[in-house]
Amino acid sequence: MSSEPVAPFDPSKPNIARAYDFILGGKDNFAADREVASKILEAYPLTGVLVRESRSFLIRAVDYVSRQGVTQFIDVGSGLPTSPNTHEVAYEADPDACVVYVDNDPVVIAHARALLAADGCVAVAPGDVHDPEAILASVRKTGVVDLDKPVCVILAMLLHFLDPAEAANRTAAFVHAIAPGSYMIMSVGVNNNDPELGARFAAAYTAAPLYLHKHDDVAGYFAGLEIVEPGLTEARFWRSPSPPPAESRPADIVAGVGRKPLLPSVS
Ligand SMILES: C[S@@+](CC[C@H](N)C(=O)[O-])C[C@H]1O[C@@H](n2cnc3c(N)ncnc32)[C@H](O)[C@@H]1O
Repeated sequence: MSSEPVAPFDPSKPNIARAYDFILGGKDNFAADREVASKILEAYPLTGVLVRESRSFLIRAVDYVSRQGVTQFIDVGSGLPTSPNTHEVAYEADPDACVVYVDNDPVVIAHARALLAADGCVAVAPGDVHDPEAILASVRKTGVVDLDKPVCVILAMLLHFLDPAEAANRTAAFVHAIAPGSYMIMSVGVNNNDPELGARFAAAYTAAPLYLHKHDDVAGYFAGLEIVEPGLTEARFWRSPSPPPAESRPADIVAGVGRKPLLPSVS
């Protein structure tokens, strides 16, 4: 599979990155993106809250990993630049941190190049999560990340664009390839047993096929990693300094951070 961006730019068609940008309150979107975003919000009004919770999780997780001494980040499916971006959080913890942003959307790549070019140890690489080896090859080519040393691969709000079997295969490929001591940060949309909502959501979301996974599917994406405390939780609860009240939701974002052990387990 090619590691070049695959999605052609067409403002008349809704697009994953731009619809997400709209839900986050950004300005890099067109009428078609706003329309699909509005339909999703109608189908599941909590969506706006969930994406913000996932962004907050990402910030806490990048900060956590940085403070464990890992300062090389590969942010796959990075999305349109938003604030704070991964590199801003990583720099806060260590000004020598390096980040490679990867996406399969040429608009994301163009924005990232324009906005991030001036920002220190940051690189941008086109790549498709269906092909982790090609992503890592183009990351290596950027020269800003040493893949022989621990890195942190971020797959935030991305795996629900793959079906669970595909997501398991692709995450396993990343786990296999990264050096011992590396981390993976993941957040994934899950459906807590509400098939009717799942169908409504998928029908409203015409930017791409969308698969709402199960909590146990997401646990499987951490195979080969030690999941760090507090484990796999809803994004809003992960190391949150002020966790919101627990409420049962038909669909949510499940999130976690895993570390590749230094020695392979013997069992
Ligand atoms: C919902 S946004 C999430 C952005 C960011 N990771 C976050 O959590 O805020 C999903 C991003 O993944 C990108 N994407 C979708 N399918 C992809 C694929 N197959 N390979 C790489 N990126 C992909 C989209 O272009 C978009 O930028």
